[in-house]
Amino acid sequence: MSALKGKHILLAVSGGIAAYKIPFLVRLLRTEDMDVRVVITNSAQQFVSPLTLASLSGNPVEHDLVLKDSGNISWNSHVDLAGWADVIVVAPATSNTIGKYVNGICDNLLLATILSSKCKVFWAPAMDLDMFDNPANQMNLEKLRAFGHIVFPSPSGYLASGLTGPGRMVELDLIVLRIRSHFLKRKYWQNKNVVITSGPTRELIDPVRFISNGSTGRTGLELVKVLSDYGAMVTWIHGPSRYHQSGLDGVTYRPVTSAMEMRDEAMAIWPKSHIFIGAAAVSDYRPKNVAKEKIKKENAAMESIKFELNPDILTEIGRNRLEGQYVLGFALETENGLKNARSKLTSKSADAIVLNFTDTNNATMDSENNTVSIITSKNIDSWPIQSKKSIASNLVYWMEHNWKI
Ligand code: C5P
Repeated sequence: MSALKGKHILLAVSGGIAAYKIPFLVRLLRTEDMDVRVVITNSAQQFVSPLTLASLSGNPVEHDLVLKDSGNISWNSHVDLAGWADVIVVAPATSNTIGKYVNGICDNLLLATILSSKCKVFWAPAMDLDMFDNPANQMNLEKLRAFGHIVFPSPSGYLASGLTGPGRMVELDLIVLRIRSHFLKRKYWQNKNVVITSGPTRELIDPVRFISNGSTGRTGLELVKVLSDYGAMVTWIHGPSRYHQSGLDGVTYRPVTSAMEMRDEAMAIWPKSHIFIGAAAVSDYRPKNVAKEKIKKENAAMESIKFELNPDILTEIGRNRLEGQYVLGFALETENGLKNARSKLTSKSADAIVLNFTDTNNATMDSENNTVSIITSKNIDSWPIQSKKSIASNLVYWMEHNWKI
């Protein structure tokens, strides 16, 4: 069951071309089990059908301030609609609707509802680039922020006018992620700086070849997503991985390739952090010399590649910890799992090691599920097989309950 089940989302749709995307947004929110209602302006109905939105949300679409039904006239209460909403998302937010709202103009149900609301309001402006740049709009967006509302960025890209520039409506998945983190934030993680390494590293042999490993970086991504949802400030130092999510709230992205780059990034940020999570599969060795040109087949250089040891990032982090900083490491073992993980706990000065022991659970680096044990100096906690997403959320919960920061 989604932790967001039953949250009330009021989508306020004003009349921009990006309104054609809103049915997909309704679907995404419904997938998370949220209750969705839609309020729409006159002009928005020219871009998207209210019937589509009503069918997908499972609720009638609200439009009229005054309802006329079989000869009866009644007032459609914008106060009730505003009171129902846990959050309001205005998407797309047009220049017209934003401009009216910041001036308290209330000539339709959508504006009356937002003006009557007490909940958080998220705005997803969508305009052509020159309109977006216009000082009137920039000033109005600044006013929305000053009112305590959240204004999504309007990224650059292809616009309906055929021009290219800023003013596009923010991507739908980022709207959903931001709503998630609004609801899921937890006190413990507020103002906590977390550094996480994830994915494999690549150690160059020549300009086109490298040594690496099969780590997908999936557990790392899931950890970053949960931490972002809970409101942590995350520095995500990630090696090359096909599992990625940009634009996560509170996340600073530090893409790296080699172990040396990963180490430098980690050591630079560690003194200002509370928790280090070493989920990366760092290459233990790197070629001593990187050939300047691609090594030719007929050249014997491949046979005589010399390797040197990479720094052990977790060990350096552990040795340079300050009072009150906590360190979580990972261990992937194929034999003597427990014994090796225990010795890593000490040699790497970690507070806990998450052991993946491939012998017992058949889990490979690229599998959906995994079985892990959490090893501390006092305890071994073995968890049943579960998805990497679930492991990430349980690990974050585990840290919250075991580390008093
Ligand atoms: O020694 P081993 O590679 O098994 O240890 C695994 C743990 O150490 C993981 O947390 C991994 O991210 C970290 N590690 C590291 N730097 C290395 C090798 C491993 O931080 N060079």
